[in-house]
Amino acid sequence: FGKSITLKDGNKIPQIGLGTWLAEPGEVEKAVEIAVRHGYRHLDLAMCYENQEEVGKALKKVVPSVVKREDLWLTSKLWNTCHRPDLVEKELDLTLKQLGVEYLDLYLMHWPVAFQPQTPGQNLMPEDPNNKSYVALDMDTSIVETWKAMIALPKSKVKSVGVSNFTIDHIEAVIKATGAVPAFNQVETHPLLPQDDLVKYCKEKGIQITAYSPLGNNMVGKPKLTENSHMESVAKKLNATPAQVAIAWGTYRGYAVIPKSVNEERIKQNFQQIELSKEDYEEISKVIGDGKARTRFNIPYAYYQPKWDINIYGEEEE
Ligand code: A2P
Repeated sequence: FGKSITLKDGNKIPQIGLGTWLAEPGEVEKAVEIAVRHGYRHLDLAMCYENQEEVGKALKKVVPSVVKREDLWLTSKLWNTCHRPDLVEKELDLTLKQLGVEYLDLYLMHWPVAFQPQTPGQNLMPEDPNNKSYVALDMDTSIVETWKAMIALPKSKVKSVGVSNFTIDHIEAVIKATGAVPAFNQVETHPLLPQDDLVKYCKEKGIQITAYSPLGNNMVGKPKLTENSHMESVAKKLNATPAQVAIAWGTYRGYAVIPKSVNEERIKQNFQQIELSKEDYEEISKVIGDGKARTRFNIPYAYYQPKWDINIYGEEEE
């Protein structure tokens, strides 16, 4: 069933998981079922993907007939409209109900920003009444308050808690206030976006990285990572695809990696772990040497970017 990473608390996370962001309802049920039957034991989910009920239907088909619940790793994420401490457990309860499970292995704060509180699962992008193209923020709830509520969640419902899209400053803030170190930080990272400073910091603190958009976020960012000549040359050498090489870059660096696919052939392809040599890894790292490094807008600590639909990608460097 693939390699696992042993965590600080002794738990093991299967290194390659199935991402479900942008997997449409109707597609995701099939994808999850195919993946689990093929050997995937790690699913990455979130309330804001709006497809957890579909995932729940797939889980009914495969748990426990194909896999026991305790052999499956389920991650989900608290959405920004439920950061207010009294909503945190309610949102978790809705996620558990949608998935039809009793507990999650990991629950992440999806983004370091609070939106105006809403009933869990409803109105995920509340409009600012003064400007309809802005999302309504909740300036009264800090990430520290939300983190305190997350670490107080019953262990019977979540085995561990972590964060996502956090910068070093965000992580420092929650640790300083509570002493509780997030188990994970799930961030976008791939050869075009190595985030070395953040990765080094997380390593020092014992925070496990999960890499999302490992194939380079090809729909948003251009040029495509998987069409880069360095990726293609390593792929050719290893008799693999550029996508497999991109995933292997993440596993080489010790991350959990969660490629999304709803296509049977690609779901299977992404699960086939390719081993890189040091030379292969160094060749891949040259993708940035082409001047194609991507930058990313991260929500700065103590400053909330009001326009949520901002292009989070900076200009590509020439
Ligand atoms: P699809 O679901 O049709 O396979 P990321 O996880 O980096 O965000 O990438 C997800 C995107 O890459 C999706 O559009 C997905 O489409 C596509 N994709 C997933 N696996 C592969 C693969 N092995 N080769 C090419 N494209 C892939």
